[in-house]
Amino acid sequence: MTSLTAYQLLFTSYLERHAISKEPKGLYDPIQYLLSLGGKRLRPVLTLLAAEAYGAKAEEALPAALAIEVFHNFTLMHDDIMDAAPLRRGKPTVHHQWNVNTAILSGDAMLIQSYQLLEQYPDPLYGILTRLFSTTAIAVCEGQQHDMDFETRTEVTLDNYIEMIKLKTAVLLGAALQMGVHIANAEVEQATGLYEFGVLLGLAFQIQDDYLDAFGDPKVVGKQVGGDIIENKKTILFHLAIQKGTAEEQHTLRQWFLPLKEMVSEDEKIKAVKAIFTQTGASSSTLQLVEEYTQKAFRLLDTLKMEETGKRFFKDFGTNLMQRKF
Ligand code: IPE
Ligand code: IPE
Ligand code: MG
Ligand code: MG
Ligand code: MG
Repeated sequence: MTSLTAYQLLFTSYLERHAISKEPKGLYDPIQYLLSLGGKRLRPVLTLLAAEAYGAKAEEALPAALAIEVFHNFTLMHDDIMDAAPLRRGKPTVHHQWNVNTAILSGDAMLIQSYQLLEQYPDPLYGILTRLFSTTAIAVCEGQQHDMDFETRTEVTLDNYIEMIKLKTAVLLGAALQMGVHIANAEVEQATGLYEFGVLLGLAFQIQDDYLDAFGDPKVVGKQVGGDIIENKKTILFHLAIQKGTAEEQHTLRQWFLPLKEMVSEDEKIKAVKAIFTQTGASSSTLQLVEEYTQKAFRLLDTLKMEETGKRFFKDFGTNLMQRKF
């Protein structure tokens, strides 16, 4: 294939062919709603790229790519309940548009659908893919639990944070790639190597997500800007501000993040916390960290056995990610 856009188009046309309106509508309409709002389709493109990089046809990887995307959208549907998020991809979240019960059950159905999509693969590939999928899915749940626990825990270290985002976000990018490698039936070392590349890229990706949550353009981000601050999320910005701030800045920031702090208003809290993120240099260090993890991922990619064209696609993909605004 000739460009990243071509892979994306191949995937979206496959997704659209699989979109069917079923009964009961209360269960399936929210699924259709969220999936049709788009999103960047990063993970499925990774699956297709990995399959082709190791000699399979991208088409063979489409069911796995869709499984990954449906799973990702399931995690978003539930994540938005956990994060009390009103907006997703510029539109009301499912629990706002419908209600929490709907978002729980439609999300559950999506998780099951993602496993069903893998049934198209023959044994032993089916077993390999589902085992990888389950290990990844349980890691995502663990990461999400840490993320919520950290809202109210005061002693959370930067290492705790990195481990948490590895689990909630990065392993899914790794698994998306590894599935493609398995579909191409390549060597196990290549599968684990590309998985590690995905994890590093995923860390860069989540760190940038944290940055955009506070400093993104509200018209472009498609999510409530400042949502992490309102929810007392210990994001990378928080950790770097604590690391770099004066004793007074550290104290003020911790005060704002106290679990039961009476707030003057959400807007005032967002403004005050963002000022600390900026003046401590946490915001610029965050962008630097995105760059560092991406470069680390590229160095790992260079050690893998893969044609140059494959490596080129992955590097373009990583470079595009660093420039994203949503
Ligand atoms: C959002 O993922 C959730 C995170 C892990 C940060 P994306 O930013 O890939 O969401 P969409 O699919 O493009 O909307
Ligand atoms: C989400 O992290 C990770 C998962 C959905 C598993 P965030 O909570 O930061 O994602 P956004 O910002 O809502 O997309
Ligand atoms: Mg969220
Ligand atoms: Mg979350
Ligand atoms: Mg976020």
